[in-house]
Amino acid sequence: MSDKDSLKNTIVVSLLLCVVCSVVVSSAAVLLKPRQDTNKEFSRNRDVLAAAGLYDPALHDANYVVERFKSFKVRLVDIETGEYLSDDKARELGINPANYDQRKASKTAGLSQTLSPQDDIAGIKRQARYATVYVLEEGGKIDRVVLPVHGYGLWSTLYGFLAVKGDGDTVLGLTFYEHGETPGLGGEVDNPVWKAQWPGKKLFADGDEVAIHVMKKGQANPDSPYQIDGLAGSTLTTVGVDNLIKFWVGSHGFEPYLKKLQAGEA
Ligand SMILES: Cc1cc2nc3c(=O)[nH]c(=O)nc-3n(C[C@H](O)[C@H](O)[C@H](O)COP(=O)(O)O)c2cc1C
Repeated sequence: MSDKDSLKNTIVVSLLLCVVCSVVVSSAAVLLKPRQDTNKEFSRNRDVLAAAGLYDPALHDANYVVERFKSFKVRLVDIETGEYLSDDKARELGINPANYDQRKASKTAGLSQTLSPQDDIAGIKRQARYATVYVLEEGGKIDRVVLPVHGYGLWSTLYGFLAVKGDGDTVLGLTFYEHGETPGLGGEVDNPVWKAQWPGKKLFADGDEVAIHVMKKGQANPDSPYQIDGLAGSTLTTVGVDNLIKFWVGSHGFEPYLKKLQAGEA
């Protein structure tokens, strides 16, 4: 056996190879992090615009997304009161509104609370006290707001955005950007034909009680201002979407904020 095939050399070469590979992998992770963050922010902004009915992939490019999103104000809302969080209060809570992560906050004591089983119709267990909302003003008035929503379907938690007109009642659109439902079944929440039912629907009956209702496939009256037809062969995802929408527009969700919008006080 030649010297270069010795046990010692084999171990040294293996260790060197491990070190070189780990340096390459960790450098790539560190160097690519800013680009990943930029891409993540870009897709969030595109999803906000899509929910608000302001993005069509056939018509709009990346530049449009960057420029159009700039017209939105990103604000934090105290879910319980429906009021915007002041900079002072945010500082007191140790929140930086520029990089507030609602998902992380929902796991942080002090910034979140556990929901009781009877309140937790969306199946989310814990809820952040503050939510990021995207507000578009036109002519000094709120034209539309985009609200983050999430809840359990059949296999997964669905995360999305519900866009509502400045009247705090009329839906502009619903879009999910993350879920693990089955393609062709629950995954049809992403189908543009299904999503096209949402714009124009009303959240509250006479502006008061939550009335929006995602019904079992075939049971919705398309002329109803409140009813959305469910997904074919996917009653469990349908029920999940119904529950999560009812939760987030209800009293434990954005109802206080939406009522302020209705009263022109947001
Ligand atoms: C492999 C597989 C994947 C499924 N994925 C979903 C799903 O993503 N969402 C859903 O609601 N139902 C899904 N189902 C069907 C449910 O098990 C259940 O039968 C269905 O939700 C009942 O809806 P229906 O009353 O409209 O038929 C799946 C079933 C199978 C076998």
